[in-house]
Amino acid sequence: MPTFVAANNRKMAYILGIESSCDDTSAAVLKDTLLLSNVMASQEVHKKYGGVVPELASRAHQQNIVPVVSQALDIAGVGMSDINAIAFTRGPGLLGSLLVGTSFAKGLSVAAQIPLIEVNHLTGHVLSHFIDVLSDDGKSTVPASGSKPEFPFLCLLVSGGHTQILKVKSPLAYEILGQTIDDAVGEAFDKGAKLLGLEYPGGPHIDRLARQGDPEKYAFAKPRIRDLDFSFSGVKTSFLYFLRDQMAGDDRFLEENMNHLAAGLQKTLVDILMEKVIRAVKLTGINRVALAGGVSANSGLRDRMILESKKRRWNIFIPPLRFTTDNAAMIAITGYYKWLEGKTSGLDIAPVTRSSLMSGE
Ligand code: KG4
Ligand code: ZN
Repeated sequence: MPTFVAANNRKMAYILGIESSCDDTSAAVLKDTLLLSNVMASQEVHKKYGGVVPELASRAHQQNIVPVVSQALDIAGVGMSDINAIAFTRGPGLLGSLLVGTSFAKGLSVAAQIPLIEVNHLTGHVLSHFIDVLSDDGKSTVPASGSKPEFPFLCLLVSGGHTQILKVKSPLAYEILGQTIDDAVGEAFDKGAKLLGLEYPGGPHIDRLARQGDPEKYAFAKPRIRDLDFSFSGVKTSFLYFLRDQMAGDDRFLEENMNHLAAGLQKTLVDILMEKVIRAVKLTGINRVALAGGVSANSGLRDRMILESKKRRWNIFIPPLRFTTDNAAMIAITGYYKWLEGKTSGLDIAPVTRSSLMSGE
């Protein structure tokens, strides 16, 4: 099988990004770092099951991927003959979902005779801070996050599958300073929401309800975990037992206290995250702190980051909401950085369902 080599001497690159790791099918086109299109098809089918059903997810990716990619090309105003490389999510994620994106990207790479670039989904979340967009008047290019962090910076990566504090040394070099030893924080939001009878994904529902609740009314046990690691499974258990005990004596407790329960759970989770971020800044002396991943959409976490940054003189970087949850723009920008370094993949590449983030590979 041939492996196509990236044309690194070209000045400008059009990169097509494809993301299919979980339940969103997405495609994006970048011209260097400038985002030309970012199309997303989210899967509603999982809502009633309280979580992503892997077989339904891969089937929906199969249905969505062709229209999503063609729409991304159309919106960008380019054809496949303009694209210099195809970046796709190799993992981590659900095997069936990853297989759809990987196989599609391979087929397209062979047909168009352009390089294939594997992307670690987690690297994508971190590098979403480096996407540029057109300014409102359409005349200049501006960073989507307002400004781009200088290296090295710290990144709190919080998603449905991962919770890590990273030292980001360059676009593709990372050091994990701390990570969860059990559940991811997104899982804690989702499991807590499920106990409250809310639909999947529960994080956005908790966020919405918490705005009307008193975060001090109910507090839940915070774990004592050493160094910069996290644990969230105990919070879920404490939340579960608390609900069970209260509802045993008052069957209207849940409906009358939804907002306060959501606010208390959110505050507990944000406190756990921020305690470690504060410690990481102290330990490293790096005061540039970025948020990334689906949970960075949480308004409680964003507000708290702003508060701490003012108090502690941090430079913070918070992605626009559309780049917090899974999207292909972040895969395309990572593809662009790998393309610059000539890091392309062979056609025998296969998905990986689990991978941590060390080197940004
Ligand atoms: O990064 P992401 O889209 O997918 C993974 O890579 O896992 O993150 C999804 C996670 C889910 O757990 C979802 O509930 C959570 O992000 N999430 C939120 C909010 N929006 C999404 N959690 C709390 N507040 C939000 N506003
Ligand atoms: Zn993600």
